[in-house]
Amino acid sequence: TDAFALDIGEWRAGIPMVFASFAVGNELAANPGTTVRLKVDSTLTLGTDYNVIGETRKGDPNNVVMVGAHLDSVEAGPGINDNGSGTAAILETALQIGNFPVKNKVRFAFWAAEEIGLLGSDQYVEGLTAAERDRIRLYLNFDMVASPNYAYKLYDGDDSDATGAPAGPPGSAQIENQLEDFFTSRGLATVGTDFDGRSDYGPFIAAGIPAGGIFTGAEGIKTPAEAALFGGTAGVAYDACYHQACDTIANPNLTALDVNADAIADSTARYAFNLTAIP
Ligand code: PHE
Ligand code: ZN
Ligand code: ZN
Ligand code: ZN
Repeated sequence: TDAFALDIGEWRAGIPMVFASFAVGNELAANPGTTVRLKVDSTLTLGTDYNVIGETRKGDPNNVVMVGAHLDSVEAGPGINDNGSGTAAILETALQIGNFPVKNKVRFAFWAAEEIGLLGSDQYVEGLTAAERDRIRLYLNFDMVASPNYAYKLYDGDDSDATGAPAGPPGSAQIENQLEDFFTSRGLATVGTDFDGRSDYGPFIAAGIPAGGIFTGAEGIKTPAEAALFGGTAGVAYDACYHQACDTIANPNLTALDVNADAIADSTARYAFNLTAIP
């Protein structure tokens, strides 16, 4: 909007507004067409943060399976479900893969500064050469996988949920299907969740890299249909402590964490050996 361009133009003189402009951009991406007004906030300061990225020594470097979770939290609380849950699950997967002779290289990313506008993942994807980008065959994202009033939501790669949000790049439907197969094998249901741009898969799908992952819900309200599928309480937020001080070690649902940690390990291990389903 005009207001957006004007405000950023005025603020560019002030160093702290570097972060503010990213935050606004993210807000606009999630809510296209809305007018966003920001005021200068003394908590917005310029800082430095780092992605932590590690990959298996083994495996074909021309076929990289990427798995990511954001490591930061909001200032309001410790961020145990958002996103200690995803971080712990991918870290355990990395530890278990260890020196196993995988066929494809597996690269784990612990993203910085997701909460202020996907800064870490955005910078990473931006910094890839075309050749490096082409070697990344897919990206799996895990942000909030142990919500107390959880639903097993899979990113909607095939657009079967038809809510108007785009499907992911070609290959994303196959990722959704593979994750769904895991839940089916456990007798568990899943539902779709749109690629709405609110987590670190955003820069990857924008670059045309197939993506998928699991999300158990944030501030949204569980529907009666979901309560029938997953238990829990309809009419209540998936995570009533989302972005609050009470997102402590007492917040995560340990059943969801256990199931999703297995789903994350299962999907990562399958792609570590077989990418034939991915274009
Ligand atoms: N990325 C959001 C956050 O960290 C939460 C979220 C995750 C929203 C996945 C939608 C999908 O606050
Ligand atoms: Zn968050
Ligand atoms: Zn998050
Ligand atoms: Zn779907």
